[in-house]
Amino acid sequence: MKQLHRQSSLSKQHRPHHRSSLSRSLASYLLREHRLLFVLLGFLLASSFFLLYPALAPHPISLSSSAYAATTTSAIRNPRVFSFSTANASPRRLPVGVRKKPLRVVVTGGAGFVGSHLVDKLLARGDSVIVIDNFFTGRKENVAHHLANPRFELIRHDVVEPILLEVDQIYHLACPASPVHYKFNPIKTITNVMGTLNMLGLAKRVGARFLLTSTSEVYGDPLEHPQKESYWGHVNPIGVRSCYDEGKRTAETLAMDYHRSAGVEVRIARIFNTYGPRMCLDDGRVVSNFVAQTLRKQPMTVYGDGKQTRSFQYVSDLVLDLLMG
Ligand SMILES: NC(=O)c1ccc[n+]([C@@H]2O[C@H](COP(=O)([O-])OP(=O)(O)OC[C@H]3O[C@@H](n4cnc5c(N)ncnc54)[C@H](O)[C@@H]3O)[C@@H](O)[C@H]2O)c1
Repeated sequence: MKQLHRQSSLSKQHRPHHRSSLSRSLASYLLREHRLLFVLLGFLLASSFFLLYPALAPHPISLSSSAYAATTTSAIRNPRVFSFSTANASPRRLPVGVRKKPLRVVVTGGAGFVGSHLVDKLLARGDSVIVIDNFFTGRKENVAHHLANPRFELIRHDVVEPILLEVDQIYHLACPASPVHYKFNPIKTITNVMGTLNMLGLAKRVGARFLLTSTSEVYGDPLEHPQKESYWGHVNPIGVRSCYDEGKRTAETLAMDYHRSAGVEVRIARIFNTYGPRMCLDDGRVVSNFVAQTLRKQPMTVYGDGKQTRSFQYVSDLVLDLLMG
């Protein structure tokens, strides 16, 4: 016992000496040949890169509710994209080296003209896309080139019926868009509002971001030209176009009420005349009319005194705006 005790006290006596010589040799190693300076320099470089990189990376443009106030008076943008997010919904910056998680996105009306171009872009940026379409005006051929893609799904479904899905974003386009189509069955057109209600319900349930494609028709037969976002329109609630105009106005109201009362992150894009590949040739809209008549070597029809103005946008520009909105 005595011996043991002696040994332990001896080792205790030796330890501080051993430790101090170790730290002395470590210090002299670091100080030799400016090694410490290089270590500090390395730390400095690494930390400044991590601090600076997120600021240099490009960020998607996002208009917040406050930016909305600014857009009401500033230059007119086509389409008008209104963004309404809750305060803590700002996009988080990812550290360097961490890849952005691919999103699961639903596109209602994704087999239509605008929808199919949006689907092309979403898949190209690496997201998974579910298209919901009842093929009233859309065509399977518009998205047929994606059928073999494992990140693509096509569901034949009418949005007026609820559907349960796990998604991050919802682009709600499903609605007949041209007068020929929306007047064909006006009661069906106005009941499309139920589709908006279902999609907003889904967005609330799964916490998804919701984008509504609205229209310049929400201004009705406007008394102001060009129309600013601060203008609320001049709309006939009982006319032949009301099924579309009032339907979209109600859809906008629903989106805003879901945002205010349930905190759903919403975007409303008021689209003006869009043209491009896959648009329906005989939908009675001005660009398709001119193109169809030219192709058929017929004279082009101009209604009224020909002094009316329109705002046109190519479909790829519209899709970029929808993705950035
Ligand atoms: N193209 C334009 O110039 C324009 C202008 C203003 C607004 N918009 C809006 O953009 C969106 C897309 O327009 P588009 O030009 O691509 O029209 P589109 O007719 O080519 O596409 C609409 C799609 O929605 C589908 N659809 C319609 N009702 C549906 C329902 N109840 N359930 C499921 N699917 C349904 C159709 O089959 C079609 O595929 C529409 O919401 C429209 O109101 C378009």
